[in-house]
Amino acid sequence: MISVGIIGTGKYVPEKILTNKDLENIVETNDEWIKTRTGIEERRIKSENQATSDLALKAAEEALKNAGINAEDLDLIVVTTVTPDMIFPSTACILQDKLGAKKAAAYDLSAACSGFIYGLANASNFIANGTYKHILVVGAESLSTLTDYTDRNTCVLFGDGAGAVVLGPVANDRGFRSFELGADGSGGDLLKVEGGGSRYPSSIQTIENKLHYISMEGREVFKFAVRIMGSAAEEALKKADLNKSDIDLLVPHQANIRIIQAALDRLELSEEKCVVNLQNYGNVSAASIPIALAEANEQGRISEGDCIVLVGFGGGLTWGASVIIW
Ligand code: ACO
Repeated sequence: MISVGIIGTGKYVPEKILTNKDLENIVETNDEWIKTRTGIEERRIKSENQATSDLALKAAEEALKNAGINAEDLDLIVVTTVTPDMIFPSTACILQDKLGAKKAAAYDLSAACSGFIYGLANASNFIANGTYKHILVVGAESLSTLTDYTDRNTCVLFGDGAGAVVLGPVANDRGFRSFELGADGSGGDLLKVEGGGSRYPSSIQTIENKLHYISMEGREVFKFAVRIMGSAAEEALKKADLNKSDIDLLVPHQANIRIIQAALDRLELSEEKCVVNLQNYGNVSAASIPIALAEANEQGRISEGDCIVLVGFGGGLTWGASVIIW
């Protein structure tokens, strides 16, 4: 088996900022409530002429530059998203064209906020077994398009953005050490967008019933997240034959500071060993972890040989964790 690692990272967030103060003018909420209950202070919102592939393109270009390879060197592009440009073609195919990655196969993968970790697990196998050499994995979301800005329970949480990584062969003592993926479909109703699929195709009724927006049982999702973040990370460490004390940096899904804090408590980690940027971007679903990873890399928080743990949870319900020796 060939060792596979992350050889480049990149991110892009749109320029437009939606602050907690801005939201005070839209729904009955306040900055203090949002900050104390979620940790979020502002989020980025895409412009009207941007689609998810446009956000993905900028993150991908940065990741390719960071990896020191060209788009033509890519063998495969995997985009993980719940907000594709359209039903089909896939956002990965649209991105493949925009990048000029002529040699690359391309497809989307959907596991909501856990999508990026599912995408890494999926893509890394093609390199490990020698099928491909360079793969682009992108988490990109335009959650503002699914957000009901009259619903204070959800509209304070979500934002737009994209993060990307390039995977490639690395030395034997580096790269992915384990993946822990899971799903509990019985919890699907806790977090969903029902409209626009084959169950409820787009119609005037689906629009009137607001089925095209995110609906969420916040408290239930919260309880699930608190339980699963710590246990998924622990399982991934166990599979890698490593301990909590080996972690140099935790890169968790950025949904709620209280969920991240619970994971830190369970993993007995200090805050300095965790990447937190949800105050700036809110929850960007599949893009949260790759944006946080790219920022940590940019800021020089990751060194060769570090033990990095990625962990996330999301709609499905789904969860995923991975241990990487950088
Ligand atoms: N501003 C002010 N008050 C609010 C707001 C708001 N924005 N939202 C809710 N409230 C009110 C509620 O109506 C409730 O009032 P009540 O007691 O009179 O009914 C009160 O605040 C407390 O509400 P709770 O839901 O108990 O608040 P909680 O502490 O659980 O926080 C939150 C809510 C932030 C949504 C939390 O439950 C959470 O983070 N859940 C996880 C959500 C999540 O991570 N979702 C994404 C998953 S990933 C993916 O796949 C996209």
